[in-house]
Amino acid sequence: EASIREKLIEAHELTAKFYHYLLMNTTHGQPAMQYLRSRGVTDKQIDQFMIGYAPPEWDTLTRFLEKREFKADLMEKGGLLVAKHDGSGYIDRFRDRIMFPIWNRDGKTIALAGRMLGEGQPKYLNSPETMLFNKSRNFYNFHHARPTMRKSRRIILFEGYMDVIKAWSAGVSNGVATMGTALTEEHAAVLQRNVDEAILCYDGDNAGQAAVLKSIPILEKVGLRVQVAMLPKGMDPDDFIEQYGPNTFLQDTIEHPVSVTKFKLIYTKKSHILLEEEGQKNYLLEAVGIVAELESPTEREFHLKELSREFDISLESLKQDCFQHRQQLQ
Ligand code: UTP
Ligand code: MN
Ligand code: MN
Ligand code: MN
Ligand code: MN
Repeated sequence: EASIREKLIEAHELTAKFYHYLLMNTTHGQPAMQYLRSRGVTDKQIDQFMIGYAPPEWDTLTRFLEKREFKADLMEKGGLLVAKHDGSGYIDRFRDRIMFPIWNRDGKTIALAGRMLGEGQPKYLNSPETMLFNKSRNFYNFHHARPTMRKSRRIILFEGYMDVIKAWSAGVSNGVATMGTALTEEHAAVLQRNVDEAILCYDGDNAGQAAVLKSIPILEKVGLRVQVAMLPKGMDPDDFIEQYGPNTFLQDTIEHPVSVTKFKLIYTKKSHILLEEEGQKNYLLEAVGIVAELESPTEREFHLKELSREFDISLESLKQDCFQHRQQLQ
C-alpha cells in the first residue's frame, strides 16, 4: 500500500516535470506558451506553479512512463492514463491541454488539471478521485499558502486555478481554490485546523455568487469568521487583475471584504425590482429577515439603520418587523 502510493507520487512528479519541460523547451509547446502569454501568465508564474503542456498525441505520456517501467494499470488507477475501450492498452488522459500540477499539503504532486487552449468542453479536465487525490478535501495551492495562512490565521478562497495564480503574484500568499467541486464540510474542517477567518473571493457571475451563499454556512458551522470580497459583475479575480492590475485588486477587493450580512443583502437586492414599490417592500421584508439572524443587537441596529436611511422607512417599523422575525426563529 505505502509503496504503491510512493510509486504513484513519483509518477505524478515526473509527469509534471515532463509536461513543464515540453512547454518550456520544445516547439510542441509553442502554441500553449502563446496562449499563456495572451492571458498575461509570466515565466515566473509558469515556474512557481510548474505549469506545463500535454501534447495532442494519444500516447506521449504512456510511452514516457512505460520507458521508466511504471506499470500501466497502476498509472490508470492513478488517473494519468486511461484504458482503451477494446482493452488493447492505454492512452494518455490529458491531451493538448495546459497542465497544472495539484499538490498535497506536503507539496507532493498527487493529481493534475488540464485546460483547453481555447473554448470547448470540458474547459478543465481534472484527475479523477484516486488513492492520492480526494476532491472534497484537497485545495489547490494549499502547501504554498500554508505559512501565510497560519501566520495570519486567514485564508482567501478562490474558485479557479488562474485566480489563485494571478492573486499569488499580486501578493496574496494565502489563496487556495477548490477544484471542480463546491466547498465541502471536509474542506471546512481542514481550514478550521489552520485559520480563524475565511474570505470568499469567488467569480462575480451568478454561479459564483450563488456558490458564495452556499459556502457561508459551511464555513460558519466550523466556527470560522467569514467575509466576502466582491468583484464587479461578470468578472473573476483573474480578469480583474488583468484589467485593473494587482494593486487595484488588493485595494478594491481583498483588503475591503464585506460582512456576510452585507453580502446577503446585496445578493438579495439583485432579485428585486427596486424601481417598483412592490419590489422595494419585498426586498425590505427579506432584508429584515436576514438582519434578524444576527445575534448582536448592535449589529442588527447597524444594518436596520442603513435600510432605514436607504428606503426612508422609520427605524422603529424595521425594528418591529425584525423582532417578529426573531420570534419566528426561536
Ligand atoms: P471557471 O469556469 O470560472 O474557470 O471555473 P476559470 O477558473 O475562470 O478558468 P479560466 O480563467 O477560463 O481559465 C472555476 C473552476 O472550476 C473548475 C476549475 O477548477 C476552474 O478553475 N472547473 C471549471 C472544472 O473543474 N472543470 C471545468 O470544465 C470548468
Ligand atoms: Mn522551470
Ligand atoms: Mn465561473
Ligand atoms: Mn472564473
Ligand atoms: Mn478565469
